Amino acid sequence: MRIGVLVSGRGSNLQAIIDNIEKGKLKVDIPLVISDNPEAKALERCKRHGVPYKVIERKAFKNKREFEERMVMELEDKGVDLVVLAGFMRVLSPYFISKFPLRIINIHPSILPSFKGLDAQGQAIRYGVLFSGCTVHFVDETVDGGPIIAQAVVPVFPGESSDSLAKRILNYEHRILPQVIQWISEGRVYVKGREVKVKGATYGTIPFNPDLEQF
Ligand code: GRF
Repeated sequence: MRIGVLVSGRGSNLQAIIDNIEKGKLKVDIPLVISDNPEAKALERCKRHGVPYKVIERKAFKNKREFEERMVMELEDKGVDLVVLAGFMRVLSPYFISKFPLRIINIHPSILPSFKGLDAQGQAIRYGVLFSGCTVHFVDETVDGGPIIAQAVVPVFPGESSDSLAKRILNYEHRILPQVIQWISEGRVYVKGREVKVKGATYGTIPFNPDLEQF
């Protein structure tokens, strides 16, 4: 399977994908990473690991439609089967989504449907929840609202800052995103309405694991 990864910033989830490919655990190719931000640290990761990338900036186009048309063209040109949003900070339009039906996934740092949108970890802290986590879901026309494929639950410690929670959630993001990509590449993910079934998977969630608390 060929995946196209869309990024805007740090790229630690992209790094987790690359690391799992290099370890032989994740058996997919990345023919293209697209960043809408020329300063994204994710691009250094591409250079370091020989992953092809393109910078496509929104401001280089007259409107959002033309910007997205260019991304679609590049992804189709590379024969991408699955589009992975890994910290891509733009909301995709129905046009883009219609080009890859149930073939776009996103990672979000909360247990959806709670805390959609920006600063999900800060929203969780301010709300006072005792558990948060991360979600990998299919992208549909709603923001952070498509069918859920996997979640990992992370407890919120008393008095914890949103930065600390974000770091601990990130450890789990780095596990569930490559896992879901591998499941999809093996043809094990079935979607019916909002319900997603993963053939042969014993769980859709990764429980709290203190070993992952070391970072
Ligand atoms: C992650 O927290 C992800 O859940 C959210 O954006 C952040 C991207 O981090 N969508 P990185 O660029 O992968 O390090």
